[in-house]
Amino acid sequence: MWDWVGHDVVKSLGKVVSCAVAIGFGLTLLAVTFDGSTAQAGEREIKRGKVIWNNKSNCKNCHGWAGDGRAHPRSPPGPSLRISELDRESMREVIACGMPGTAMPHHDRHAYTDDRCYGLTKDDLEKEMMPKMGNKPIRPTEIEMVIDYIEARIKGRGKVTLEECEEYFNRVGAKGCAKLPKLADVTN
Ligand code: HEC
Repeated sequence: MWDWVGHDVVKSLGKVVSCAVAIGFGLTLLAVTFDGSTAQAGEREIKRGKVIWNNKSNCKNCHGWAGDGRAHPRSPPGPSLRISELDRESMREVIACGMPGTAMPHHDRHAYTDDRCYGLTKDDLEKEMMPKMGNKPIRPTEIEMVIDYIEARIKGRGKVTLEECEEYFNRVGAKGCAKLPKLADVTN
């Protein structure tokens, strides 16, 4: 008989435990939901980052709209950012400061007026090493957004697909996209 009581105790203990597990799980779900909402805030930044990428600073002229390094014929080609291994911190520096001795321009309007970029000022750099100022300066908050965009839509993505192209140009059947392979046919 005691056995049975014992069993009941064990059973109800089991319930308590599974209840705790359920609460724990619920909390995890809640955390996921909260995460989901920050991801939504992220979408806003990504969208604004795309506008900067596309319109404001002509990143796409040199890096290609898809960041794959297919530059506009009249622009100096930039490397593919799809295979970039730079972390956020280094990207921030490259976008703000450009890369001395290369065509990558700086976008911090005060770059090289003090030592904020690689500890260098204009006086430290030979003229031909000095990065050009980008098309337009980009504010630090905007640099964060363009990085959000690169991280979300460019970096680590494999081949450029028809679907990606249509999404970028916001139009199904967009003319320049037709030659690209369909996502389903691409093995990355
Ligand atoms: C005038 C052409 C040009 C423009 C405009 C340009 N880039 Fe670049 N970018 C380059 C070149 C060239 C390099 C490579 C320099 C080197 O390593 O020789 C580069 C390098 C980079 C890198 C480093 C990649 C790596 O993995 O090393 C990042 C990130 C980058 N560009 C982002 C941007 C962003 C974002 C914009 C727009 C705000 C932009 N670039 C505008 C030409 C350009």
